[in-house]
Amino acid sequence: MNDFKKSTIYQIYIKSFKDSNADGIGDLNGIRSELGYLKDLGIDYIWITPCFRSPMNDNGYDVADYYSINPIFGTMEDAESLIREARGMGIGVMFDMVFNHTSTEHEWFRKALAGDPEYMDYYIFKDGPAETPPTNWVSKFGGSAWEYVPHLGKWYLHLFDVTQADLNWDNPRVREELKKVILFWKAKGLNGFRFDVVNLISKPAVFEDDFIGDGRRFYSDGPHVHEYLKELVRDTGIEDMVTVGEMSSTSLDNCVRYTNPAERELSMVFSFHHLKVDYKDGFKWALKPADLSELRRLFKDWQEQMQEKGGWNATFFCNHDQPRTVSRFGDDRNYWKESAKMLATLTHMMRGTPYVYQGEEIGMTNVDYSSIDQYRDVESLNYYQILLDEGKSREEALHIIHERSRDNGRTPMQWTGGENGGFTSGTPWIGVPANHTFINVEAEENDADSILAYYKKLIALRKEYPVIAEGTIRFLDAGTDEIIAYEREYKGSRLIVICNMTAQSLDASGIGIPSNAQILISNSCEKTDIGRLKPYETAVYLTV
Ligand code: GLC
Ligand code: CA
Repeated sequence: MNDFKKSTIYQIYIKSFKDSNADGIGDLNGIRSELGYLKDLGIDYIWITPCFRSPMNDNGYDVADYYSINPIFGTMEDAESLIREARGMGIGVMFDMVFNHTSTEHEWFRKALAGDPEYMDYYIFKDGPAETPPTNWVSKFGGSAWEYVPHLGKWYLHLFDVTQADLNWDNPRVREELKKVILFWKAKGLNGFRFDVVNLISKPAVFEDDFIGDGRRFYSDGPHVHEYLKELVRDTGIEDMVTVGEMSSTSLDNCVRYTNPAERELSMVFSFHHLKVDYKDGFKWALKPADLSELRRLFKDWQEQMQEKGGWNATFFCNHDQPRTVSRFGDDRNYWKESAKMLATLTHMMRGTPYVYQGEEIGMTNVDYSSIDQYRDVESLNYYQILLDEGKSREEALHIIHERSRDNGRTPMQWTGGENGGFTSGTPWIGVPANHTFINVEAEENDADSILAYYKKLIALRKEYPVIAEGTIRFLDAGTDEIIAYEREYKGSRLIVICNMTAQSLDASGIGIPSNAQILISNSCEKTDIGRLKPYETAVYLTV
């Protein structure tokens, strides 16, 4: 068994982490140059987003060749050096495997397009008239999930961009090919894998229209998904490596099965229900204020039931597909430091393996763009147009994009207060927010009260106190859902974690902190009144 419960994992969005050769794009050697920073932070594993050859329509999640490194990110030697040097420093490297689909530039798809029946069966092609797609399913990036190929007289399925064709996992040859990819990278010395939207790989036997949704209920956690995952893990021998599956619109019971060790599937899962509490009617491009009752209920259900049924969560708020948490669930203007620290405490002290997404540890915020031309993400650009087509004004559409765009999490890592935040000496591929002058690594490394210093402390506590990694969890009722509180227990030691999710001062006396409890960490330097919480205040108490 590996040590993933005691670990903290850091996600690197390679394109925006650190540029080593002044072309404005982050790269493998940029990551190598910052391994010391990650070591100092206390990180155990880094997960690097896809760096394989790709036309980059979806920034590398459209893979054209699983066996080669995209030249914009470096060479195979750079990848090997990175893996070796990281290992030498005690940091494991995880690669991101995009196995639900390939780029339409992948050789397999090219052969399919040329009409080769063997390769057509690698993908999901369906007959049908040019006017009507086989089903009414909607792509996750907007528009139909099907694309017609006139010279074949067939449609192919793409749950994401039109240049990301879904693979046919029911074809054993496809499964064999993907196992080879894993074995190739495993032999390079990787320590783990993240599997992109891996609960979408098993499509239904019959394709039918969805009259109540966008089609996802037919292919999320599909009929053979557990069987295929078990086979992949078994035949590649990655059971003892760290594996995390990204589960789109999944269910708790399926996540138990994905992660219960007896099932021999994955170490842990990302689920996203807690990141939809500000979606109006469940729709990403319709805004509403975060529903804190719903947020608390979801955390409680997932945490307590995953525990009861023997599953394991990845705990997180941020990644390359999400807005920045301090701008979303905190207050990046009036309580920037307080709320960033509170949100970190909430996820790091829960039962699960915490993920830190680059820049989160210094409190990076959403973008400050004022024009659609500053955005780069295919999904944002598609939806801007869709919102306009629906009759929204340019201002309204831009406001929604500003709140929801994935580019919020994709701006360059802010290393210094200098030009381009020290990310590149060239022109960055996407704009650097102006706040890099005061939100940056260099400034926070010299400040004992910084968000960065706080993250270091949280990460170190996990290693020092087994209750954080191993303890049971039970949610506590503070009498209001605006306070999220829970206790952890392990071999007689007990932690109580309290988070004020609001900008109001709140009564927390209902929780009943024992008077002899000692404060392990708090975002408030002079915490005296344990019955009252200041705005966004958090504290972790230890009783033995
Ligand atoms: C995942 C990735 C996202 C990508 C999508 C399609 O959700 O995190 O960035 O666009 O899969 O591969
Ligand atoms: Ca570069």
